[in-house]
Parts: sequence; structure tokens; C-alpha cells
Amino acid sequence: MPLKIRLGNGEKGILKTSDVYFIQKLLKTMRNPRTRFDGREFVEKGEDYLFNYVGKNVGGVDEGRRNFLKGLVIGVAAATVVGIVPGLRVLVPPVQQASGFPKSLLLDSSGNPLKASSIPVNSPIITLYEYPLTGEPNFLLNLGDKNGNPVSVPGVEVVVPQTGKSYKFPGGVGPNNSIVSYSAICQHLGCTPPYIHFYPPNYVGPSQLTAPEPDTLTAQALLAAKQANIPALIHCDCHGSTYDPYKGGAVLTGPTVRPLPTVLLEYDSSTDYLYAIGALGVATYPEGSDGVPSQNPSADLDTSQYGSVVGDKTQVQANTNPFSGS
Ligand code: FES
Repeated sequence: MPLKIRLGNGEKGILKTSDVYFIQKLLKTMRNPRTRFDGREFVEKGEDYLFNYVGKNVGGVDEGRRNFLKGLVIGVAAATVVGIVPGLRVLVPPVQQASGFPKSLLLDSSGNPLKASSIPVNSPIITLYEYPLTGEPNFLLNLGDKNGNPVSVPGVEVVVPQTGKSYKFPGGVGPNNSIVSYSAICQHLGCTPPYIHFYPPNYVGPSQLTAPEPDTLTAQALLAAKQANIPALIHCDCHGSTYDPYKGGAVLTGPTVRPLPTVLLEYDSSTDYLYAIGALGVATYPEGSDGVPSQNPSADLDTSQYGSVVGDKTQVQANTNPFSGS
């Protein structure tokens, strides 16, 4: 479903799914050290620098949507430079559950079925798999308490602060009901790992206030974790959004106003295998023209640009420890 938004310059427009991906791509490019966006140049030279940058690094703007996307691009650049968030913050996406998505067996990095009981509790290593499309990363977490014992994660109602609506997160799965999975795309402006990642209990403390990116925690995040009485959290270093992994990826601190979408997992206790079977929450996947997620989630996308459906298997990769240098 197209989404109505008001741009930072006051102009109204309709945000299409492809626009969201365009913005995500732009943000990723801006954060890339090789193509880093120079905020000082933007302030000095304004739109000339900005659109040269976009044309060179992101491939330009669709001519038919030039004016609309110009407003969005300016909003994103302004947000990056001054840390405020015009435009995208007023998105009002629907809350709904996807159906008809593939049932995908999770494989380990060697290509064998991943055993749920082998997933380390509270691992700091960023553990991701793609679902439902290639290029759409999701966290796989085995949650524990501060002593490293697995924690049974109950079902809970998750509120979307942006709309006031809520949906039911079904809780953890696996031998201890401690395994959960969330989209690894920050729901503020789309930053991806390593900027957004899980902070285990031994990294939720005052020493993270001065840790280098991507391991900084804000004082607000620490306070929110304390108030929520949780030992670990998910935090995005781009602008400080914090999510509660024990409560369905609920928002702990903004600027995000949307929880992390959940990937629904099914556990087969006879084999110890895990399957991704759908997604729940504010939609980050493509939608059909009626606003309902497509039976085939790639149907609304240009697959050459945004990936294709992962099929009946998807591989889990666990190979980056963002804290290794700290
Ligand atoms: S993209 Fe802004 S907080 Fe994550």
C-alpha cells in the first residue's frame, strides 16, 4: 500500500515500497567509509553537493518521481547532518501479519540444518539470515539472563507507538523457548548491522557510553533497560533507537516509533530444527496494491535490485563480533 507522508519541506507525497528501499540504500551508502557523506560539504554547498553525491553513489533519482524523491533525499541528508528526522517519522504503515510466506529451514554456515540447541545463549556475534527475500537480514537470538542461562520468552502484546495499535508477539521457541528472531533493519531510517545489533548483558553498562561505533549505548538506552528490568537489548548506533528483544522487539527508546518486525519461527523438537514461516508486525516486506502482503513477497519488487524469495532454505551466518575491538 502506498504510504502518505509529509516531507521535511512541507510537500506531501506518496511513499512507495521502492522509495523505502531507495532510502535504505542511500543511508547504507552514506555510512560506508568509502562513500561517506560529507555533512560539512552539504552544509556549505547545499543541494548541489547532495544531488551530485546521490547521482554518483546511488545511481540518481527516478525522473518521474524526481521532485518527490528530492524532498525525501533532502530530509535524509538533514537527518544525517543534524540528527533530526523529518519526513519518514510520519510514516503510518499498517500493522498486520504476513501469510503465504515461504517455510524456510534454517541452515548453518556449512549448509547443514541448524540445531536450535547449538545456538549460543547471549552471543555478541551478529547472527543473521535472509528472509523472506534475499538482502533482507534478520537477527537470530538465543536470549539469556545475566548469568547466561536461557530465558523462556513469553508471548506479549507489542505496541506500535506511531499508531497506538498493537499486535501479539507469540514468544520464544526452541528447547527453552528462548530463541527469537527480528528484522535487522532499524525501523527508524533503515540502518543495518553492524550499526544495529544485540548487546548481551556484559555490554549493557556505563562503559558502552564511550565505546566507539558501532558499540555505543546512549544514557537513555541504559536507563530504559534498567526501567524495563532487562539484562540485554538491541540498539542502533545510527541515531540511538533501542528495542526490547525479550518483548517482541518493542520500542524502548526512539527516535524509532516502530518495533522491530518479528520473524515467526517454528521449532521441530523431534529434529531440533528451526523454520522461518512468516513475519509479524509493521510491514517491512513488499505489499500488494491492496495493502496486504503478497503471497509472493518479491512480486512487488524489481528483483534485480531488491532480491528474490529465499525459498525453502535460508542460511544463517554468524561471523561478526562488533565488540572484538573494544
Ligand atoms: S536508523 Fe536511526 S536509529 Fe536506527
